Amino acid sequence: MTRKIAFLPGDGVGPEVSAAARRVLDAVAETHSLSLKYNEYLFGGAAIDTAGDPLPSETKTGCLEADAVFLGAVGGPKWDGGALRPEKGLLDLRKALGVYANLRPTSIAAGMEHLSPLKIERAKDVDFLIVRELTGGMYFGDRTEGNDTARDECLYTREEVSRVARIAFEAARKRKGKVASVDKANVLATSRLWRNAVNDLHQAEFQDVEFSHVLVDAMAMKLIQAPADFDVILTENLFGDILSDEASVLSGSIGLAPSASLGDGARGLFEPIHGSAPDIAGHGKANPVGAILSAAMMLRYSLDAGEAADAIENAVAGALEQGRGTSDIGGEDTTASFTEAIMALIE
Ligand code: NAI
Ligand code: MG
Repeated sequence: MTRKIAFLPGDGVGPEVSAAARRVLDAVAETHSLSLKYNEYLFGGAAIDTAGDPLPSETKTGCLEADAVFLGAVGGPKWDGGALRPEKGLLDLRKALGVYANLRPTSIAAGMEHLSPLKIERAKDVDFLIVRELTGGMYFGDRTEGNDTARDECLYTREEVSRVARIAFEAARKRKGKVASVDKANVLATSRLWRNAVNDLHQAEFQDVEFSHVLVDAMAMKLIQAPADFDVILTENLFGDILSDEASVLSGSIGLAPSASLGDGARGLFEPIHGSAPDIAGHGKANPVGAILSAAMMLRYSLDAGEAADAIENAVAGALEQGRGTSDIGGEDTTASFTEAIMALIE
């Protein structure tokens, strides 16, 4: 079976880290007998320059026909303040793909604890996944602007909660089998609905998954005090925005962190969490790990190739353990030499 990947390198360091991810994907395709087909499309600033649209219709169609979409990064000073913004393409793409769950893993590899702002003993064995609801809640409710009084509505339906909770429980089955659902049920009505809906789904279909509720203010503390206690952390849009940014600094560099966005069906959107990093673009020093681990998530969640995903993750951990790395994590490698070190460890 040939798996079709819509490949969107984008702007700035996007093409550099995408090329690295593709080299690693090709290496793992060989060791794991996978047939991967890439169709490359214009996206973001590059697409504004050539097609006058950050998400040209050919790109959108190609993404909708693919088994998975891989994205580097978009944006840059060249397009700041213009009428068309590259980031608009990203929002439109997420909408077109119907992705309502954003998955952001945070892990600290053995031997890399010193890069974390946490104390070494707290940074040990950190390996959790935040599943954030992406298309509901406060960010999509009605608003009333005002100088003296203003109002933002937070609305959730049971259906919106259940579908993202299902993704969290299923992800837990592929990991350590634990879900912590985060809410503010002691105050908010939407959180009480959230809690009931997640409880009901757990009872009905996921009793094999260890399950708990944590209030969001307590979770903000626990992510610093005891991050190694968690496996999957499920939460709504606003809380997830804040907690995932808190989590993103724990590993020590934004260049290390991958993400996935999923909806109904297997097709997802996979991208490193960093932007186009215009300050280092073209210097060959972008950390490729966020992109490479995003490619691993793509294999696991969209392309039914979990063992190949494990092989990539193990190779990244192994290269880090050998002290390899780009300058953002204190190493001396270029993007290319770091990528080659990772490829050499693919089994
Ligand atoms: P950024 O993530 O591009 O860069 C922040 C800092 O982290 C910079 O110092 C950069 O050099 C460093 N950095 C980022 N990725 C790195 C990597 N792989 N290796 C080593 N260091 C890395 O965020 P910034 O500077 O706020 O935004 C730059 C542009 O990217 C803007 O146009 C912004 O709108 C866009 N952006 C796009 C995103 C996307 O495509 N999903 C997400 C965030 C920003
Ligand atoms: Mg944010």
